[in-house]
Amino acid sequence: MLALVVGALGVKPSLGKVLWGTATAAYQVEGYREADGRTPSIWDAFDTPETSKVILAKRPDGNWRVYDGENAGRADEDFARYEESAQLTKEYGFGAARLSVSWTRVATYANGLELVRNDAGIAHYRAVIDAYKARGIKVALTMFHWDLPLSLEEHAALTGCASAWLCDWMPRVFGEYAGLLLEAFKDDVSYWITINEPLTIIQNGYSGAGVHAPGRCGRRDRCYVGDDDVEAYAAAKGLILAHGHAFKKWTQVDRPGEGLGITLNGDFRVAFTPDDVDAATRSLEWQLPLFFDPIFYGRWPASVSKVILDRSTKLAWTPEEIALVKDAHDGHLFMNTYTSMFAREPINTSKSQRYGFVYDAGAATSGYNFTSKKPIGTPSTTGWLFNYGKGIRALLNFYNNRYPNMTMIITENGWGNGTQSEDAEINDLERCTFYRDYVSNVSAAAVLDDVRVGAYFMWSLMDNYEWADGFKTRFGLTYVDYETQERTPKFSATYVRRFITPKKTFR
Ligand code: NOJ
Repeated sequence: MLALVVGALGVKPSLGKVLWGTATAAYQVEGYREADGRTPSIWDAFDTPETSKVILAKRPDGNWRVYDGENAGRADEDFARYEESAQLTKEYGFGAARLSVSWTRVATYANGLELVRNDAGIAHYRAVIDAYKARGIKVALTMFHWDLPLSLEEHAALTGCASAWLCDWMPRVFGEYAGLLLEAFKDDVSYWITINEPLTIIQNGYSGAGVHAPGRCGRRDRCYVGDDDVEAYAAAKGLILAHGHAFKKWTQVDRPGEGLGITLNGDFRVAFTPDDVDAATRSLEWQLPLFFDPIFYGRWPASVSKVILDRSTKLAWTPEEIALVKDAHDGHLFMNTYTSMFAREPINTSKSQRYGFVYDAGAATSGYNFTSKKPIGTPSTTGWLFNYGKGIRALLNFYNNRYPNMTMIITENGWGNGTQSEDAEINDLERCTFYRDYVSNVSAAAVLDDVRVGAYFMWSLMDNYEWADGFKTRFGLTYVDYETQERTPKFSATYVRRFITPKKTFR
């Protein structure tokens, strides 16, 4: 009865209904890079010498691109240990798992751009998905978590468009790949994620210091290529169009599963003084809205178009492009978030150093739109991640106001550190504190602020290959000994179990 009254009053579901999950990504956990006909991705080339001539594993100054020259050749060997992962997910009490497909296991390309399906790869992921489903765990499948086929990047160089996400053909090629997965797994997947964190791709792969594959940027001492930040915006546009093609395929195969979206990342910005409210808003806009305003409203955010349309006319949306991307969502907002920063209007360097501020470095947050940022909350060893729980509540409200009536699917949230002893890593009180602070604030957003939260995935089920950080940063609920591949539940796995599987009765 109470439920009916509450429903009639329009009260949205609280966290009691949320779907709890863990998250991983293929390249970060699988290893077995040559199994069953898999071919190299741009990340194989980025962390392993001699994989490619287009992308090089060392920088011009001779230093490795990835910390200490580490690579994902073994990682967590999850290609062979996925049953163990599914079992841990179940034992920890989760109802869902977010996994990604390694593109180059399921497809190769003939004559440049002709997609050739690899049945062995499809069979592998069918077995993986079955391992989770057999344990009652729903699967959220990411189609592209950064491991782009190297052959496409090499083809780009041959066709004169420099890098895959800058090529006119790339969005369509992605749509075909999405179609392959939708057909193959339409009966097995609950949530589909087309692309993971395009903002990180453009910030780290097409600007800044080029610390992610394909490693393009404007810094000649760090990178080999890349002229200016127009590339980053052009890549952003390519990624949004690619999502549009994938969304269209999804509608053509009758919208399988419970939803499909693009996972966009963004962290909260707190105005440092009352005069910095606009800087904080701009800094927020240059993250998730940079990608979601085109999808929700059919245009760039105002502060973004003011900057980028002057740089290149190709960055303007054509009517055909808008027809493809506008409304390419189904009412879910798939979002990753980790931390918060203070934001301030641009200030000069010496002053900024005095106040502990840093300038936004990536092209996607630069130009005259620069804001200055300063950490807020308890730091981790990553250098970019700070525990500030209130930030996630404020961020959810910001999104909820900007994009009304969306259901939030938090596809990643978690705590990374890793310079401690094995013992300290396993007794990970900092991670418990982080989840306590973040989950209670998500709960406040859901219960007190009327934000609809559909799912919450924790990054990550287990420690894994943290991209440019190699293995030194650990985000897992499970400790992984990379020598023996032994997996040990951390204290946080026991801790979060208490609130993801709440008691049904109150005393
Ligand atoms: C974002 C990425 O999606 C994931 O691959 C990465 O490991 C985590 N954040 C932590 O940095």
